[in-house]
Amino acid sequence: APKKRESFSSRKVFIFAAIGSAVGLGNIWRFPYIAFDNGGGAFMIPYLVALLTAGLPFLFFDYAIGHRGRASSPLAFRRLNRKTEFIGWWHMGINVIIAIYYAAIIAWSLRYMIFSVNHAWGDSPADFFSGNFLQTSDPTAGVTLDFVPGILIPVVLIWVALLVIMSLGVQKGVGAANIVFIPVLIVMFLALVIYSLTLPGAFDGLNALFTPNWSSLLDAKVWVAAYGQIFFSLSIGFGIMITYSSYLKKQSDLTGTGVVVGFANSGFELLAGIGVFAALGFMANAADTQVSEVATSGIGLAFIAFPTIISQAPAGTLIGILFFGSLLFAGITSLISIVEVIVAGVQDKFGASRVVSTAAVIVPLAIASTLLMPTTSGLYVLDIMDNFVNQFGILAAGLLSIFLVGYVVRALPVLRDHVNQTASIKIGPIWMILLAAVTPIILGYSLINTFIGLVKEPYEGYPAEMINIFGWGMVLLLLVVAVVVSFLPWSSRSRAALKAPA
Ligand code: PHE
Ligand code: NA
Repeated sequence: APKKRESFSSRKVFIFAAIGSAVGLGNIWRFPYIAFDNGGGAFMIPYLVALLTAGLPFLFFDYAIGHRGRASSPLAFRRLNRKTEFIGWWHMGINVIIAIYYAAIIAWSLRYMIFSVNHAWGDSPADFFSGNFLQTSDPTAGVTLDFVPGILIPVVLIWVALLVIMSLGVQKGVGAANIVFIPVLIVMFLALVIYSLTLPGAFDGLNALFTPNWSSLLDAKVWVAAYGQIFFSLSIGFGIMITYSSYLKKQSDLTGTGVVVGFANSGFELLAGIGVFAALGFMANAADTQVSEVATSGIGLAFIAFPTIISQAPAGTLIGILFFGSLLFAGITSLISIVEVIVAGVQDKFGASRVVSTAAVIVPLAIASTLLMPTTSGLYVLDIMDNFVNQFGILAAGLLSIFLVGYVVRALPVLRDHVNQTASIKIGPIWMILLAAVTPIILGYSLINTFIGLVKEPYEGYPAEMINIFGWGMVLLLLVVAVVVSFLPWSSRSRAALKAPA
C-alpha cells in the first residue's frame, strides 16, 4: 500500500524552508550591484513593481500547482494535464545542472571562511583566487581533469552533508536544517551589516547605492533587470516552490504564505545592499577612490573585493567569518531546495523509499560535481553553466509553462479555484492577466534579447567548443531529455501515484 506522503509539520517550517531557498547567493552578491547599476534608489520602483506584477503572481502559480498536485514537479504537472508533464522533467534537469555548480561555490565559501583567519590571500586576492586557490588553466586548454585538492575536499564534504540532511526526510532533514540554519544566517548577516556601517566610508557606499537616478526609469534594460532579479531571487519557475508547496498541509493559506516569503526575501536583499555597499564604501575610502570604481557583483565581489576589505578593515577576520559564513548558510539552504526537487521526482517516478531515492540522486550528482568543478577548468564550466541555465533554462521554462498552462490546456481557472479554497488573499482576473499577459511579455523580451546577444558574441569570449558543450549543448540536452522522459512509462510501483490528487 502507498505510504502516506511526507509533509512539513507546520506552516512555520514551510516558511523557513521557502525563505531558505529564496535567500541565496543572489540576495547577497547579485542584488546590491544590480540595484546600484540600474538606477540606485530609483531601482526600488521597478523592483517593487516586478515583485507585485510578476514575482508574487508566479509564486502563487507555483504554489497552486504543487499544493494541488501534492507531488514532485513532473507528477504535479501530469496531474494538471498529461501534456505538461515534460515541464516537470525539464525542471528536474535544470536543478541537476544548478546543483552541480552551486555546491562548488559553497565549497569555496567554506574555504574562504577559514582563509579569513590569517588572510591567506596575501597582498593580491585577485591573483590568489585564480592562481593559488583555483589554479585556473588557460580556457583554450579546454576541460581538464587536473584536480585541485584544496577544492576537491570541501566539495566532497558539502555533498556528504547534503546526503545526511536529505536522507532524514522532508521534516526531519529539510525542515529541521532550515529551522536551524535560517536564524543563524539572519543573526550572522545582521551582525555583518551593523558592523560594516561603523567602518569609515560606509556612508559613501550607501550614498552610491541609494542616490536615485530617475532617468533610469525610462530605460527598458532597467526594467528587464528588475524582473530578472525577482525571478531568480524568488526561486520561481523551475520546480522548487512546486516541490516545497506539495509538502504543505491541505488547509494552508497559500497566498498569505507567499506574501510573507516574497517580502522576507526582498527584505533580505535590501539588507544585503546596505551591508555590501557599506563595506564597499570602506574599500573605496581606504584606496582613496570612488565607490563606483570598486563596486562589483558575484564571484568578483565575494572572492576578490571582500578579501581586500577583510585584509584592511579593523577586525577583518570577524567580517570574513560573518560574510563567508552567510554565503555558506544561504547557499546550503538553497542547495537543499534544489536537490529536493530531484529527490522528489525520483521518488515519485520509481516509487522508491526516501533513503534510496536520496542516495540514487546524490551519489551521481556528487560524482558529476566532483569531476567537473574542483579542476583547473572548473571556473569556466561553472560560469558557462550558470549563465546558460539561468537564461535559457529558468526563463524559458517559466515562459513555456505559463504559455502551456494558460493558453494550451487552459488550467488557470482550476489553479485559481484551488488557491481560493483556503487563501486569505483571494486571486482572480488580475492574477490571470498579470500571469498570462504581463509576465510572458517580460520573459519573452529578455529571452530574445539575451539570445541575440549570445549569438552575436560568444559568452565572455570562451572558446566556441566549451560554449557549445556546456552552454547551448546543455540547454538542448535538458529539453530533449525532458521530452523523452515524459514518454517513458512510470514503474508499476508508482502507477498508483498517477491518479488525480484526492
Ligand atoms: N533564489 C536564490 C537566490 O536568490 C538562488 C537559487 C538559485 C536558489 C537556484 C535555488 C535555486 O540566491
Ligand atoms: Na533570493
